[in-house]
Amino acid sequence: MTIIVTGGAGFIGSNFVYYMLEKYSNYRIVCIDCLTYAGNLSTLEKAFLNPNFKFYKTDICDREAIYKIFEAEKPNIVVNLAAESHVDRSIDNPEVFLKTNILGTQVLMDACLKYGIERYHQVSTDEVYGDLPLDKKDLLFTEKTSLKPSSPYSASKASADLLVLAYNRTYGLPVTISRCSNNYGPYQFPEKLIPLMILNALNEKALPVYGKGENIRDWLYVEDHCKAIDLIIHKGTAGEIYNVGGHNEIANIDIVKLICKRLEKSEKLITYVADRKGHDLRYAIDPTKIHKELGWLPQTKFADGIEKTITWYLENRKWWEAIISGEYQNHYEKIYENR
Ligand code: NAD
Ligand code: DAU
Repeated sequence: MTIIVTGGAGFIGSNFVYYMLEKYSNYRIVCIDCLTYAGNLSTLEKAFLNPNFKFYKTDICDREAIYKIFEAEKPNIVVNLAAESHVDRSIDNPEVFLKTNILGTQVLMDACLKYGIERYHQVSTDEVYGDLPLDKKDLLFTEKTSLKPSSPYSASKASADLLVLAYNRTYGLPVTISRCSNNYGPYQFPEKLIPLMILNALNEKALPVYGKGENIRDWLYVEDHCKAIDLIIHKGTAGEIYNVGGHNEIANIDIVKLICKRLEKSEKLITYVADRKGHDLRYAIDPTKIHKELGWLPQTKFADGIEKTITWYLENRKWWEAIISGEYQNHYEKIYENR
């Protein structure tokens, strides 16, 4: 079995690479990643020690190069995690989001059609559904909820989802889609809420909370997401969408306060800054389908997952210190200055 994992040098992709190498000693894992600011080879250091792992530094939009890789590697399954993934960057500069997230998806699916494939899996997001009100706790996203994306990022992901379903209907490509809620865990790039707050707190820097910090996200430990993808590619039904989330809704401000407490830092570091444009209020996933059909349930409780995550950042300074120099600083100044 050969599985192509795109975006494997990023946060979820790298966790998925490690999960699969560990679980299936007879699988070949071929990673394709063009190493944008969010992809780091140091993240895959341990994977390179495994003879079942192979890496191509390639852009998923590069049709010729992608076809060559498919011809050489003859993958059985493709899991597409390569994407521009940060909402704030998409508000600042949408174009690359449309290229990678939509056109890159098309190139990968064309390669699957040309060379044959057992399964193409698209890793999507709960953000394609837009948001839910803060005061109606009984409302959850199901797979039947209509698509109503708010940001250029989520619109690009929703567009890709539609294209994936169209390739299934028109060309019979055996596809599946997973729409997961917010992930947290090791190797997350420190532009996202949890690692950003951990690193800023450690460095005694201001903790920039957008708006009033009341927005709610449904947090899932990254390994539980990897387990869901593993189940879907092996047991899921082609043509189907699976929502993935663990009924773990938390307001942003509560996460930030929890991080302050754990790191013994003053809450005085919390700084309320201008809100994100079009900021989604609340996400909440109904995971009934994946639970009933595939037996998936999240296994890591938030208290344990956040402890493991904070400990990981404390123990892996070298990894993130290299990352928060250079391009990261430019991004930081652009997003947070005058806010
Ligand atoms: P990430 O930004 O950490 O990693 C993305 C990876 O894709 C990077 O390694 C980057 O170098 C690579 N990449 C970007 N453009 C590429 C291109 N054109 N060609 C090849 N490689 C390219 O993202 P993540 O948080 O790991 O998210 C992975 C996927 O999961 C995305 O599709 C995202 O939409 C989805 N998702 C993320 C979350 C979350 O909470 N992080 C939740 C649900 C779904
Ligand atoms: O729901 C799944 C999505 O989760 C994924 O599809 C995206 O790829 C992923 O980035 C994430 O999107 P969010 O926008 O929810 O994540 P982010 O970490 O950027 O922000 C989480 C919340 O925290 C959001 O309400 C905005 C807020 N926030 C974020 C940052 C970076 C702050 O208040 N301050 C910050 O500095």
